[in-house]
Amino acid sequence: MKEIVIGFLGCGNVGGGVWRLLEDMREEIAHRFDGLSLRVKRVLVRDVNKTRSCDVPAEVLTDRPEDVLDDSEISIVAEFMGGEQPATDYLLRALRSGKTVVTANKVALALNWHLLQAAAEKSGAGLYYEASVCGAVPILQTLTEALPANRIDLLMGIINGTTNYILTRMSDEGSEYADVLADAQRLGLAEPNPAADVEGMDAAYKLTIMSSLAFHGRVTYDRVYREGITGVTATDIACGSAMGYTLKLLAIAKRGGEDGREIEVRVHPTFLPKNHPLARVEGSFNAVYLRGHACGEITLQGRGAGDYPTASAVVGDILRAATAEKHRHPTFRNTAEPDPSLHFTDDWRSRYFIRCSAVDAPGVLARVADCFASEQVSIATMRQEGAAALGRVQLIFITHEAGEKAVRRAVSRLDSAICSLESLIRVEE
Ligand SMILES: NC(=O)c1ccc[n+]([C@@H]2O[C@H](COP(=O)([O-])OP(=O)(O)OC[C@H]3O[C@@H](n4cnc5c(N)ncnc54)[C@H](OP(=O)(O)O)[C@@H]3O)[C@@H](O)[C@H]2O)c1
Repeated sequence: MKEIVIGFLGCGNVGGGVWRLLEDMREEIAHRFDGLSLRVKRVLVRDVNKTRSCDVPAEVLTDRPEDVLDDSEISIVAEFMGGEQPATDYLLRALRSGKTVVTANKVALALNWHLLQAAAEKSGAGLYYEASVCGAVPILQTLTEALPANRIDLLMGIINGTTNYILTRMSDEGSEYADVLADAQRLGLAEPNPAADVEGMDAAYKLTIMSSLAFHGRVTYDRVYREGITGVTATDIACGSAMGYTLKLLAIAKRGGEDGREIEVRVHPTFLPKNHPLARVEGSFNAVYLRGHACGEITLQGRGAGDYPTASAVVGDILRAATAEKHRHPTFRNTAEPDPSLHFTDDWRSRYFIRCSAVDAPGVLARVADCFASEQVSIATMRQEGAAALGRVQLIFITHEAGEKAVRRAVSRLDSAICSLESLIRVEE
């Protein structure tokens, strides 16, 4: 029988789930993996007296990091503390001493991946991180293990459950953002400080990791364009719906250009046609839609958070680490700077939903149309909404595909005395 000794860093939602899943699967793991036994020897927490969701014995808990990091019997360190520090320092210490790391921490990985990978390569330790992106949905394994024979040119994901829950409820109920957010906080579905979710940082960290693996080059967090959902209104969602679209916070990574090295990475609210595979992903679910030149289109969907779904990814990584003959690392040059062979663009092409409040008078529409025409932005559909309250009407345009910068220039030309911009939302097909 082979015994692998594990140390935990953290034992909250995810750590508690991992402890329970390891207990739950003990016999099946032994049966499926030649008698393999996974023993958790020490568990680092902040407060050893806190009540836990798992029955970890008191003598296993510690608040001294060295009890995990300096124990030579521990060969796998599983981290679910969260945050960049001190997690990154602890992971580096573990890797430098030859311990394999399994982490659910997207922030530490997205910001310090190059350091972690260099330390792992130097000591020969493994670095596993499936749980850092989309919980139970095996998107990273899919990219690295299942689809290596593909050039991936598109990843589009709903990769933050909190914002998808909020947008789903706004769409279903016609409610405003602030009301649904407050309710989600009451229900424990949004954090007391929701910024990381609603301002798109969480999705941007995950996109950094996914797109680096998809494009075989380091995509850094600072290259991801980011817009959250705090400015989304019930009016936008209702107008989009009337035109056949559903609003989602999407993380998008595309590769194009003549040499296939032009990269765009962006997180922002996006309208999708109602029959798009991602448009039907509701509530706190996650999904990633990808396209490879050989495999075509694939959609993966499932639970992106929660104790057991995340534990599913962590324990999967622990098993891969425990049974690997040699640990593998991404082959691209993993540096602090973005890969110089990838050309990042912020002038991507998309379709646009543009909602304006305009004076209800003859000639106004023609002047608005001139602003678009002067930047070669062509309008596919136009709709006028509602009665002329206070002499103004809502004008909603959906453009044909156009350049981001041209569209921004066009809307900056609008004369606010007759037509003011209310919202500009990208539309993907
Ligand atoms: N929650 C999810 O569904 C989910 C899904 C995917 C990925 N993740 C990632 O998993 C990680 C953990 O998330 P979580 O929801 O489990 O967080 P959590 O419930 O807040 O748990 C954090 C744990 O780490 C311990 N901890 C934090 N800082 C520490 C420090 N400086 N020293 C010692 N112990 C420390 C805490 O100790 P105490 O218990 O004593 O406070 C707690 O046990 C994060 O990186 C998160 O992004 C979470």
